[in-house]
Amino acid sequence: MINITGVRDINGEIINLSIESQQDVVIENLDLTLLPALIDPHVHFRTPGHEYKEDWRTAAKAAICGGYTTVFDMPNTLPPTITAELLQEKKQLIDSQLKEIGIPLRYQLFFGADKNHLAEIPKIKNDVIGIKVFMGCSTGNLVIDDDESLRAVFEIAAQNNLLVAVHAEDEHMMRERKAKYQGVTKYEIHSRIRDVDVAVSAVEKAISLTRKYGTRLYILHLSSVPEIQLVKKAKQGGLPVFAETTPHHLFLNENAYQHLQGKAVVNPPLRAEEHNIALFDAIQAGIIDTIGSDHAPHTVSEKAKPYGECPSGMPGIETTLALLLNAHHEGLLTLNEIISLTSKRAREIFNLPKTDDVVLVDLNKVAEVKENQLKTKCGWSPYAGRKLRGWPVYTILDRYCYDLSRI
Ligand code: DOR
Ligand code: ZN
Repeated sequence: MINITGVRDINGEIINLSIESQQDVVIENLDLTLLPALIDPHVHFRTPGHEYKEDWRTAAKAAICGGYTTVFDMPNTLPPTITAELLQEKKQLIDSQLKEIGIPLRYQLFFGADKNHLAEIPKIKNDVIGIKVFMGCSTGNLVIDDDESLRAVFEIAAQNNLLVAVHAEDEHMMRERKAKYQGVTKYEIHSRIRDVDVAVSAVEKAISLTRKYGTRLYILHLSSVPEIQLVKKAKQGGLPVFAETTPHHLFLNENAYQHLQGKAVVNPPLRAEEHNIALFDAIQAGIIDTIGSDHAPHTVSEKAKPYGECPSGMPGIETTLALLLNAHHEGLLTLNEIISLTSKRAREIFNLPKTDDVVLVDLNKVAEVKENQLKTKCGWSPYAGRKLRGWPVYTILDRYCYDLSRI
């Protein structure tokens, strides 16, 4: 039995909680606050093929330490998840890695849209959480950069009642900009090559296909003011359009290139500061539904490479909740908004069954993000050195309580 006494619910009311369990755990009067365990709709845990960056043994520990018990993994692995067979192979690998460490992390997989494998989609429709479309190239070489294939994906997804999640950056516009800035070597140029117009063009295209076919559309990592406007309009028009943002688009901006250098390179890129504020407003307005960590680990030495060779992406699953709780103390988010962003809306949008999973947070714990304490295999964080107030301390997954100081 797990017996928890004297915890607070989000309204500050003191409650007691008993959870049937094989484990005997007593947590008494520690002045903790109870939240639903987090759901991360957007991670890159790198199996198969890039296990030197991350694998599910390290990533599952990182997830639990971040307060997450459910993750949705992306298909840009090696090989990418673009056939029914590759999907099954990936599941087996993940299951065996999770079994090895004895953490039954809940997970779902996105299937990768590839123009030569669209006929696979009906085969996997009951085995995935949705179809991921890279409208522009990112890590890996999955991309749908022609209008006809994109149209076909939206049509097939609608026919099979599948949600489409888009990485909305226009490949052709990016190529134009890349040519224009050829030879520029500073990392900051990344935010010019993949500027806001690049994202806006792709978001417009995706929304117009949802208007045509009724496909449920989940726009990944919304990062800018005009994208917010497009989503707002689509929602007002009654379209099934949902939007995610990321911790780095909320808590970092272009100023970060100065101290993070290549570690700040991510797709879509970091934006000007004004977009940070607009994203918080969009959360409050219900335009942004979820936060996905977009946990995309690369090694320190890869991120130290010069611009052009340095891969895009940063880890995030261990620090997202602390960043959000810290933002709560700064008056930027209510606890209800945090719950909505980190579990409630994802459960609704993706139709996930309810669980008893919870996370106990110490709202007043102040601690610095320390890279040597992270569980992610990549061993670094863009938030290293930040002092944050509000941290998860226990995560309960499937009636098992993890003491996060002992993982
Ligand atoms: O920065 C990114 N990294 N954006 C993506 O779309 C992919 C991700 C990765 O897998 O590294
Ligand atoms: Zn991603």
